Amino acid sequence: MDLSDQRISYETEGLDPAAFSADPTSVFEEWFANAQAGGESEPYAMVLATVDPDGWPHSRTVLLRQVDASGFVFYTNYRSAKGRALDASGRASLTFLWHGLHRQVHVAGEVERVSAEESDAYFAKRPRESQLGAWASEQSTEIESRQVLVDRLAEVEARFSDREVERPEHWGGYRVIPHRIEFWQGQPSRLHDRICYTRSEEATWSKVILSP
Ligand SMILES: Cc1cc2nc3c(=O)[nH]c(=O)nc-3n(C[C@H](O)[C@H](O)[C@H](O)COP(=O)(O)O)c2cc1C
Repeated sequence: MDLSDQRISYETEGLDPAAFSADPTSVFEEWFANAQAGGESEPYAMVLATVDPDGWPHSRTVLLRQVDASGFVFYTNYRSAKGRALDASGRASLTFLWHGLHRQVHVAGEVERVSAEESDAYFAKRPRESQLGAWASEQSTEIESRQVLVDRLAEVEARFSDREVERPEHWGGYRVIPHRIEFWQGQPSRLHDRICYTRSEEATWSKVILSP
């Protein structure tokens, strides 16, 4: 398959660095609202990159569930491949791609598990089927067939038939605490705009323009 002739030009308005707030969280929230208004179907989907203890990088999509000045929160199985990589390295990066706006946001930072109370509160809001699924799936482990999952789901359905589904201890949230957030806007002739914020030890943000 030869894709070398396939390309589109990004004819979008450029960024004015002077108009960018000193607070990257507020810029993220504004860009997120733009992506939602622009019709992105899951603007909260983001690619999470981790490095495993052998130094191998891995990436996969997860859903952003909360964002504020303290960081970007998503939920998963703590025993999954990503969970083990995150617990071992304490670091991750996140990439949002909003195709329709020709925008990308890249976040890098340290990672911590959210509190049990925070995970409980989010778990309680999930549909019951998803709650049961969290018990049924030993995420990232090999299974012989889909039937294994169907059987496990039947087991947990029976176990919780007369009560609320509690959160498994091995399922919960991680918070990526950003030390770097980059906003990228596609521009004509591949001369894209990039504005990158870096957090200092004193938790203040500085802002630079990067070459595309
Ligand atoms: C749009 C989309 C959203 C997803 N959201 C999540 C999520 O929030 N949490 C999660 O654990 N997996 C989510 N997944 C599945 C992950 O991409 C991945 O397959 C799974 O978590 C196993 O990853 P791992 O084996 O690297 O740990 C999502 C996948 C897609 C395509």
